[in-house]
Amino acid sequence: MFHKSSFLSFIRNAHSISVMAAVALIQGASRGIGLEFCKHILRNKSPVAVIAACRNPESAADLAGLADQHPGKVTVLKIDVNQEHDIKNAAEVVKKTFGKVDLVINSAAMLHPSGKGETSLRDVSGQGLVSTLTTNTVGPLLMAKYFSPLLLKGSGAFGQQPPEKSKQHSGIIVNMTAKVGSIGDNALGGWYSYRMSKAALNMATRNLSIELGRSRPKVVCVSLHPGTVNTDLSRPYHKNVPQDKLFSTEHSVQCLMNIINGLSVEKTGKAFAWDGSELPW
Ligand SMILES: NC(=O)c1ccc[n+]([C@@H]2O[C@H](COP(=O)([O-])OP(=O)(O)OC[C@H]3O[C@@H](n4cnc5c(N)ncnc54)[C@H](OP(=O)(O)O)[C@@H]3O)[C@@H](O)[C@H]2O)c1
Repeated sequence: MFHKSSFLSFIRNAHSISVMAAVALIQGASRGIGLEFCKHILRNKSPVAVIAACRNPESAADLAGLADQHPGKVTVLKIDVNQEHDIKNAAEVVKKTFGKVDLVINSAAMLHPSGKGETSLRDVSGQGLVSTLTTNTVGPLLMAKYFSPLLLKGSGAFGQQPPEKSKQHSGIIVNMTAKVGSIGDNALGGWYSYRMSKAALNMATRNLSIELGRSRPKVVCVSLHPGTVNTDLSRPYHKNVPQDKLFSTEHSVQCLMNIINGLSVEKTGKAFAWDGSELPW
């Protein structure tokens, strides 16, 4: 039987963990860049709680391994970003368990349901376009809808905090974008669905930065481009990429975490590439 005093100390410990630890939520955590964000944060931040969200937790073997390696620090939750109720349920669980979030990384995306971007209008289908926009654009915006109340309760554990209270932030939203989503940078065309989904995601980033920048405390929101990274998403195009331009997930995430660790309210509402350069909209 649970003795009353050990029960009380359990409550105190749970409370102090939720208050003290930085809480990072990564969605699209089963593979690729999202999985590497989980590994990197677990290696480099302490005390920390990592919430790894993916659409099939029961088959996410890498996340199960990570949870074994870091006992008590990894919570695996189900979020299919195409299912609004998954996002709402996950936010309720996070609210009950941690009461706040300090960092949300929206990593899940697809190039196109076919696995390859359209090369011309001939390849465009309504269904392909809608599926890509639903996952890449609608998903991250709904994540912001349900998690921003928890980000407003964050302790500003990621990024830089200036001394002035009026300029401090409580949490950070990172939307993983792509350079090909930049309208100003588009000289080649093609990839209608993916380019449009990331351009619209960038607009969501800007809108969120304005709405969540009015509140006090503020939530910082940026779009980040990871470079061309050696993952399943870019696999069909690897043979066209020079070796030194195809990044490992470790290298890309190290660069992106350097940017995240340097974020402040001055940088909100912008898009940055892996090397810290600002991307044109
Ligand atoms: N790799 C690159 O070169 C590159 C370049 C520029 C930008 N990016 C961006 O970086 C981010 C990460 O890409 P990546 O290269 O890591 O891709 P990836 O290796 O293909 O992984 C995609 C991830 O998204 C998840 N996902 C897909 N649809 C989902 C849904 N409906 N609900 C929840 N999760 C879903 C996948 O989960 P399952 O395991 O369940 O399928 C997987 O975890 C994306 O936003 C991508 O656009 C990547």
